[in-house]
Amino acid sequence: MPESINISFSYQEYGNLKELADDDRDLVLIARKAAENAYAPYSLYRVGAAVRLDSGRIVHGSNVENSAFPSGICAERNVFATIVSGYPCEKPDTVAITAFNDNSIIPDDVSPCGNCRQVMAEEEMRTGSRIRIILDGREKIRIIESVSDLLPLQFSRDNLTPRNP
Ligand code: THU
Repeated sequence: MPESINISFSYQEYGNLKELADDDRDLVLIARKAAENAYAPYSLYRVGAAVRLDSGRIVHGSNVENSAFPSGICAERNVFATIVSGYPCEKPDTVAITAFNDNSIIPDDVSPCGNCRQVMAEEEMRTGSRIRIILDGREKIRIIESVSDLLPLQFSRDNLTPRNP
C-alpha cells in the first residue's frame, strides 16, 4: 500500500502595509520603488524585489524584458545575481517582492515563478540560512519564513550526488 504523506507550511497574512514591522515595511517600499525601474514593455507587468542582507545592506532589482523573450530576466533572479556576484559573503535575510499592473500594485499578492523559487532556494542552500519572503499585494501581504516552503521536494545539489547503494 502506498503511504500518503502531507507537506504543509504556515505563513502570516496581513491586510495592509501598516501592519508590518518597520523594517519589513521599509523593504516593501524599496521593492515598490525598484519596480519603477522595471523594463517591461512587452508584459507591462513591472516587478520589484528588495533584499535585506544580514549586514543591513539592502539590494534591489527589477524585471528586465527583451524582444527575444527568453533573454529577459525576472526581478528576483536579477537581484540575487547581484548579491551572489557583488556581496558573496553577506547572507540574505529577507526578500520583499511586489508587482504592478496598469500602474497600480496587483490586488492579490505576487507569486514568484518556479525559476525564481529555484534560484532563491539555491541561495538558501549556498548560505546555509533561511530567507524570509514577503509577497506584496494591495489587499493582501504574505510573509513566509523560508523560500523553500514555496518549493517542496526541490531539486538541489543532493540530487547531483549519487547515493551509495
Ligand atoms: N516576472 C518576475 O519578474 N518575477 C516573477 O517571479 C514572475 C514574472 C516577470 C517576468 C516578465 O518580465 C513579467 O514578469 C511577466 O511574466
